[in-house]
Parts: sequence; C-alpha cells; structure tokens
Amino acid sequence: MFQVKIRNTRFFETQGPCPTLDPSRQGCQIALFSRRIIVSHAHPNHDSALEGSLYLADENATLAAGERLANALPGRLTIFLCGDLGAGKTTLTRGLLRGLGFTGKVKSPTYTLVEPYKDSRIVVYHFDFYRFTHAEEFLEAGLEEYFEGDGIRIVEWPDRAHPYLPAADLEILLQVSADGGRKLELRPLSGEGHTCLERFATSRTH
Ligand SMILES: Nc1ncnc2c1ncn2[C@@H]1O[C@H](COP(=O)(O)OP(=O)(O)OP(=O)(O)O)[C@@H](O)[C@H]1O
Ligand SMILES: [Mg+2]
Repeated sequence: MFQVKIRNTRFFETQGPCPTLDPSRQGCQIALFSRRIIVSHAHPNHDSALEGSLYLADENATLAAGERLANALPGRLTIFLCGDLGAGKTTLTRGLLRGLGFTGKVKSPTYTLVEPYKDSRIVVYHFDFYRFTHAEEFLEAGLEEYFEGDGIRIVEWPDRAHPYLPAADLEILLQVSADGGRKLELRPLSGEGHTCLERFATSRTH
C-alpha cells in the first residue's frame, strides 16, 4: 500500500545530516543535527508537503518500486537516496534503470563514484559517495558538471559530498524493517520532485 501524507510539518530520524536539509539552500527546512531529528516544513512553492511511503516486502518489491518510479520521471531530476548500508539503494536504482529500458548489468558505483547509463530511455548517472573521506573529493573529481543539463542523477550517500552537491528534487529514504523488508519514503524538494511523486502515487505497479 502506498501512503501519502499531506501536512505542513513532519519529523523523522536519520542516520546523520543530509545535504538537502541546508536551510540556506532550501529555505523551508531546518535540520537539528545534534538530535538527529529533521524538521521539514512544506515546500514554499506548494500549499502542503506531499510525502509518500511504501512497504517493500522483498528485493523484487524494491525492483518493482524502482520500475514504477522510472515511469514517473521527468527528463531532468536529481534524486538523493538515503539509508544505511544494505538498505536497498542500488536495488531501487537497478529497478529504475530496468523501467527505463536498460537491459545490461547495473553495478554499484562504490569504487567508480559514478556509473553513466546512456542506453536507457533517459540518460541516468548513478553516484555513490560512500568512500569519500572528505567532501572536497566531489570537487576534486570534477563531478559538478554531471549535475548540469538534462538527465536523471541518482546519488547514494549524498551527505558525504555536503555542502558541494547541488540540491535534490526528490529525497528517498530506505529503512530496514524489523521483519527484514524495507520501508520506502519519498519526499519532494522541488516542483519537479513534487510532480514526480504525484505521478508515482497515482501509477500502478505492473
Ligand atoms: N525490500 C527488500 N527486502 C529485503 N531485502 C532487500 C529488499 N530490497 C533490497 N534487498 C536486499 O538488500 C541487500 C542490499 O541491497 P543494496 O546493495 O541495494 O543496498 P544499498 O543500500 O545500495 O547498500 P550500500 O549502502 O552498501 O550501497 C541486497 O541483498 C538486496 O537484495
Ligand atoms: Mg549501494
């Protein structure tokens, strides 16, 4: 079941500071890092904050959610994928690429930092900054240029490139449930992200 919440304020715990929660960039959000609690207010361009959550019972459900997200994507979007090690971030990306028609192997960019997919319906750049020891590595590797122009940018471990990483349109949080499944939460951070989530919420899984 896909749950959509419409309210002006929400609270949830995170594993650490997330770069999208920089008040100077987002204007509408406050991060209380010391308590590891995020207080997120409605996006200023919208009357209310649309958020969605979905329970994913197994790996196939995560792949299906990724495929469903693929069908909701605009031509240009930056997605931050947050969640612990092994939460399912790469699996979700694998499903998304499958949904975009990519039939090849999707490997984790943990060592390469970025994996480009140019044969899919929309160009996708999949990043993983887990191995960064300092955020300046983002600049040293010249990765800003990937965030200009059209295409989908999916970023695992975005907090490791804070504050150099450009802002996200959509933030996705994956959490391991007590029964071994996963909880998926989607939160729009721009008008494009909001439209994408609306399309995702009203679409059906195949
Ligand atoms: N809904 C689910 N229920 C149970 N297991 C899942 C689910 N989704 C994915 N998994 C499993 O979780 C494991 C880790 O997945 P994945 O590599 O995608 O995580 P990750 O978040 O990318 O990890 P990392 O932070 O190390 O990159 C895989 O074995 C995958 O099959
Ligand atoms: Mg991964």
